[in-house]
Order: sequence, then structure tokens, then C-alpha cells
Amino acid sequence: MGEPVLRVKDLSKVYRSRRGETVAVDGVSFSVNRNEVVGLLGPNGAGKTTIIKSICTILRPTSGEIWVDGADAMKNPRAALAKVTAVLEGNRNIYWRLNVRDNLEFFAGLQGQSLRSVKTYIDELIELFNLKEKVNEQARALSRGMQQKLAVACALVKRTPILLLDEPTLGLDVETSYELRWILKKMADEGQRTILLSSHDMNVVQDMCERVIIINHGRIVVDDRVENLRRLFTASAYRFEIAGHLSPQQQRKLTEQFDMIKISADGSRTIIEADLLDSQKVYEIIDVLRENGCQLDSVGKQYPDLEEIFLRIVKGEKQ
Ligand SMILES: Nc1ncnc2c1ncn2[C@@H]1O[C@H](COP(=O)(O)OP(=O)(O)OP(=O)(O)O)[C@@H](O)[C@H]1O
Ligand SMILES: [Mg+2]
Repeated sequence: MGEPVLRVKDLSKVYRSRRGETVAVDGVSFSVNRNEVVGLLGPNGAGKTTIIKSICTILRPTSGEIWVDGADAMKNPRAALAKVTAVLEGNRNIYWRLNVRDNLEFFAGLQGQSLRSVKTYIDELIELFNLKEKVNEQARALSRGMQQKLAVACALVKRTPILLLDEPTLGLDVETSYELRWILKKMADEGQRTILLSSHDMNVVQDMCERVIIINHGRIVVDDRVENLRRLFTASAYRFEIAGHLSPQQQRKLTEQFDMIKISADGSRTIIEADLLDSQKVYEIIDVLRENGCQLDSVGKQYPDLEEIFLRIVKGEKQ
């Protein structure tokens, strides 16, 4: 489906310092189609920021190819930079002494857009980002959350085909985080943008992205639709609810007999979660519970959220 607007091929980045070498990105390849919203997920130090900085030509990769909307980012970074805008982690690249509207006009102008042609869009963005009351305030006088919203708005006003967001909701309060997610999702749903965003927050990725790329130790471990991942992991995850608590002997019996089992107390009940590839095992567990006089209240498949999937994949990788 669709046409790739961003292509990354065999991207590697080795940081060299006096203390030695760090392989931050190790042979990463993926592409993003026009109007797709893709999440980059990974633990600290996985290489997300390095990938994003390479795409927006701030960093020179050690090797690999990057194409942004037809422009070769390695050979012709200038042409590539005209196609992509990035909002980097913790770095609100807005002008402190300019007010909200001037910032937006400045970034629109950078892209060679005439003020007249972009005025309506700027008004829309101010409205959308709820910055109307602050439109004449200098950026430095805004709260952190508002500065972040302004930074994203300034990125949008450039109207490049690709938008890169590194941790867009980091450090925002819950409300502002939701607001920003809602705005970006709305833009994406209206098919106006191709977005690659990194986040630690699974909820952000789960809410906004149809596809997720999970990075660990500089490599891609998963690249799939969020929906597929959830279905895949649902197939083997079961949850048993039992009235009352299990005695240590009962617990030992279960954990000895079944490998992938997790027992936890939830108020007056006990929850058993099990990864069972063989569904026959479900009946075996039920039998064991019965033999031990446990009252089984319910058995069901678990529909895991992205956080669980992520933890399982990343944990599995380490072994
Ligand atoms: N300028 C640098 N010099 C040396 N090593 C670096 C530099 N920048 C990043 N690294 C290393 O490269 C690896 C990847 O870092 P990167 O910032 O890309 O990860 P990340 O996935 O963005 O992490 P986080 O979730 O913490 O933002 C880490 O091991 C990091 O220590
Ligand atoms: Mg980072």
C-alpha cells in the first residue's frame, strides 16, 4: 500500500570518542509510506534519537542510505532538509524573544512561503494548539508545555512532507500530552502528514500510530502494525481468575508444572497469567486448579497492550 516517502537502508552510526566506540545504530532499514504515522519505540539508548537526527541530516551516519521524498539525504542534505522537519527531544527550536505569532511567521517564511498564503494556516494552528491567549507573548514567557506545543506548531507550519518528532510528549502534563496527541492524530487522520515519532510512552504510540518499529541495541526487532502485534500476542496469553488466595503449596505446584505462568493477588482474588502456545495446556491448568480445590471464576484470552508486548519483546531479546 502507498508509496514510500521515507526510506532508510542499512543505516549505521558508530560514535567514536576517547573512551571507545559505541554502535548506536546497527544496520537499520525501514520505509514509511506517505501519510503513515509510525512510532519508534525502544528503551533508553536504543538509538531512536540517532535515527531521527540522521534523517534530518543533523548527524552524519557512518554508513547507509536515507531518502526523503526523493532527496538523497547523504549526498544532498540541503535538498533533504527542505522535505523534512524535526522537533528534537528537549530542544524547543523556537526563538525565545519572538512572540507566538512571529515564531510561526518566521518558520513559515524560512520555507519560502509568503505571509499572505500562510496567514490562514497560522490562524488555524494558533486555534488548534490553543495558543490564542498567548499569541503576543514571547516564547520565553510561555510554560514548558506551551513552548513544546509552539515548537510542534512551528514544525507543522513549514509544511514539509515529513515530520519527525522525538519524544513529543516528554515532560508534558497529562492534559497537554493528550491535547498534543489529539492534534497530531487529527492531522494524521486527515491525511495531511507523514509522521515518524519516537516515544517512551506506549500509550502515545498506541494512540497515534498504526505501525510501530521497536528498536533495541540499535537494531529493529519488530516492524509491524500495532493491531497485528496485539493479535499475535493475544493468541498465546491467557488469564485465569480464582476466588480467594492460593496456598504456597498450590502456587509451587502450578509454577513447577507450567513454565510461563505468573501468579498475583488482586484483592480477594488470585490472577494467573500464562503464555500458552498450546491451547491444550489451558485444560491442564484448569484440571490442576480443580484438583487443588481452587474455585475458578473465569478464563479468558488477554488482549495485551503495547506496553506488555514491548516488555516481552525487549526482555526476550536480552536472553
Ligand atoms: N554524541 C554521542 N557520543 C557518543 N555516544 C552517543 C552520542 N549520542 C548518543 N550516543 C550513544 O548512542 C546510543 C544511542 O543513543 P540515542 O540517543 O540514539 O538513544 P535513544 O533511543 O534516543 O535513547 P533515549 O530513549 O534515552 O532518548 C547510546 O548508547 C548513547 O549513549
Ligand atoms: Mg532519544
